[in-house]
Amino acid sequence: MTIKATALTPDIGVDLAGVELEKDAYDRHFIDQLRTALNEHLVVRIRNQRISPRTMTSIAGYFGPLLDIRRAGGNALHVPGHDMIKVISNENDPETGRPLGDGNCSAQVWHSDSTIWEVPTGHIAFYCRTAPTPPPTTYFLNMTKVYESLPEKTKERIKSLKVMHHVFLRQIEVAIARDAPSLPLEDRRVGRIHPLVRRHIPTNRPALYLPVRRDSLIVGWTERDSRALLDELWEHTNASPCSVSAALEPDDFIIWDNTATVHSRDGWPESQGRTMWHVSAEGEVPTPRFGERVPNTTGLSPQEAKAASAPFMQTIPAV
Ligand SMILES: [Fe+2]
Repeated sequence: MTIKATALTPDIGVDLAGVELEKDAYDRHFIDQLRTALNEHLVVRIRNQRISPRTMTSIAGYFGPLLDIRRAGGNALHVPGHDMIKVISNENDPETGRPLGDGNCSAQVWHSDSTIWEVPTGHIAFYCRTAPTPPPTTYFLNMTKVYESLPEKTKERIKSLKVMHHVFLRQIEVAIARDAPSLPLEDRRVGRIHPLVRRHIPTNRPALYLPVRRDSLIVGWTERDSRALLDELWEHTNASPCSVSAALEPDDFIIWDNTATVHSRDGWPESQGRTMWHVSAEGEVPTPRFGERVPNTTGLSPQEAKAASAPFMQTIPAV
C-alpha cells in the first residue's frame, strides 16, 4: 500500500490517496498512519470509497468509544443494525416515506460538537452518500492556530479561565445564532464548565475552546464582561485564515479531530437532498492547558501547608 498525502492548506487538512478503506481499515499500520495524519493536519479526507457500515464504525472505533448520537424519539430511519451510525439527511426513504435520519439543510455556524458533555466527542467521521450539485461546503478551522495568533496580552488574560457551556436548542443554526434572544441568566448558569484554553493532547498545543453562544458565562465574571470577552474571541476566530473547506461528494470519507477544531457548513435548498453517515467517538475530559496546581508545601507545618493549599482546593456540598 502506497499512500500519498497532500496537504489541503498549510494550516489544516490533508487528502490521502491510494487508500482502500474497506480493506485498509483493518490494517494497524494504516490506522497508525491515519492517526499521525490526524494529529498533524486535524482533518483527513479520503475520496472515492466504498465503505460498509461495519467498516465505518471500525475506523472511528480506533479513536475512542463510539457514541449513539441519533436523536431520541421520532420516526427516523438510520442504518438498521448499526446503532452507532447516525444518518444526517434532509431526505425521506422513498419506500416508507420515513425521514432518512436526523437533520435539515440549514447553514451552521462554527462549533465543536457535544461541548455540553463531561467527555465531549473526540473524533467525528462522515461518509457522504448523496449530495446536491454543487455539493454544499463544510468548513474546518484549526483552533490551536487561532489560539497561537491571539495577542500575548489576551493569552495571559484568558489562560486560567473557565466557561459555562449552557444548553441552547439548535444553537448551531446560523439564523438561530444570529436572531434568537438569550436565555434568562439563571438558565445560563447551568450546563458544563470547561477550560477556555484546552490542551490538544496529541501535540501538547493549547487550543481555544469556545462555547457557541456568546452570551455564555465565564466563571467568576459578570455577564457583561463575559459577553465582551467572548465577542472579542469569536471575532478573532471568525477572522482567522487557518481554515479548510470541503464540498463533500458521494463516496467521500472525512474524519476530523473535534478537540482542536471547530466546523461549520453552508446550507442548501430544501428541494435538494443530502445524506451523510456520521459516527462520533468519545474523546477526553477537556484538559486545561494552564491547570491550577497546589503549591509545593514540603517543609511547611501542617497548618501552613493547609493555608497555602486552601485557595486551590475544591469542596463538595454537605449532605
Ligand atoms: Fe457539528
